[in-house]
Amino acid sequence: YSTNLVRLVEVGPRDGLQNEKGAVPVSVKVELINRLARAGLVNIEAGSFVSPKWVPQMAGTADVLNQIEKYPNVHYPVLVPNQRGLQDLLSLSTVRPLTDEIAVFTAATDAFTNANLNCTIAESLTRLASVTRDALDRGLRVRGYVSVVIACPYSGKTDYKQVRAVAKELVDMGCYQVSLGETVGQGRPHEVAEMLEEVKKDVPVEKLAGHFHDTYGTAIANVLTALEHGVRTIDSSVGGLGGCPYSPGATGNVATEDVLYALQTSPYQVVGSYQGKTIDLETISEIGWWISEALGRETASRVGRALRAR
Ligand code: HMG
Ligand code: MG
Repeated sequence: YSTNLVRLVEVGPRDGLQNEKGAVPVSVKVELINRLARAGLVNIEAGSFVSPKWVPQMAGTADVLNQIEKYPNVHYPVLVPNQRGLQDLLSLSTVRPLTDEIAVFTAATDAFTNANLNCTIAESLTRLASVTRDALDRGLRVRGYVSVVIACPYSGKTDYKQVRAVAKELVDMGCYQVSLGETVGQGRPHEVAEMLEEVKKDVPVEKLAGHFHDTYGTAIANVLTALEHGVRTIDSSVGGLGGCPYSPGATGNVATEDVLYALQTSPYQVVGSYQGKTIDLETISEIGWWISEALGRETASRVGRALRAR
């Protein structure tokens, strides 16, 4: 895959905050999203329409979508697990949906879909096919997620053929892209390489994204491995926020700052848009510090810490 343009999907306001113990006020989420958009990020996950009993932190997503500035050319996807979530989103506006994109999610093991969605992989795919069809009918674009692509917290090493099959189903049902979730953050670069080569047998690499948690410190290496294998969309989280409530012990996503830093002066160029400016590393780093301090801690981004220590 020849282009050197890399797209980032900022997942901090969703993946980053869904796991927080204390309630994060809607106003803080809104400010985080607005700052990220002004900093040039063009894909910013704004939250989830999931059950508040399952993930209490995402309960305010409707308010968030209502209150953020809608910058032109910025996509604000929200996670939707079922028809109820889609209908809740669509009911917010009679004119046009409050976002132009949803993300549907499943996994490569039944143990994980059971913990995260209370159903099997097959049942989740049936549900998501109907959600995707209806979302496409309403003019939304749909992104798919496959979790636990390398290892599962409940069933150990993942069978990459299963990742390939699930990713293909998501594309076949109409997802424009499938993000491969290394949920537990234990994956090693050579494993990521092997997994990607398996998935690429059925899904064009142009349609794949990499989503790496950093529990064992391999996330940035896994990002570079994904790029070497042709992936050009990377999910990242400002300040390295994040974790999945159904993956015990997993830490945040690869930090947006760390990805930007690693790619500076490389042949890869990160696409950003705000007023034609490229995404400024210092600005993202400051946002990482701001949100981390609002949550009562230091930034988890190594680059963020290094820049402040200078
Ligand atoms: P269930 O309990 O089987 O659902 O959960 P149900 O249909 O039996 O409904 C139970 C209750 O939830 C009912 O309310 C429903 O109305 C309500 P009650 O009658 O008890 O008052 N309900 C909803 N409420 C709001 N929004 C909805 C909704 N649906 C039902 N959409 C369900 C099934 C899918 C709802 C649940 O399992 C769920 O919400 N799961 C979401 C889990 C989640 O958000 N996980 C984190 C995101 S995935 C992730 O982080 C991984 C990723 O980052 C990639 C990676 O790292 O791998 C993407
Ligand atoms: Mg995640």
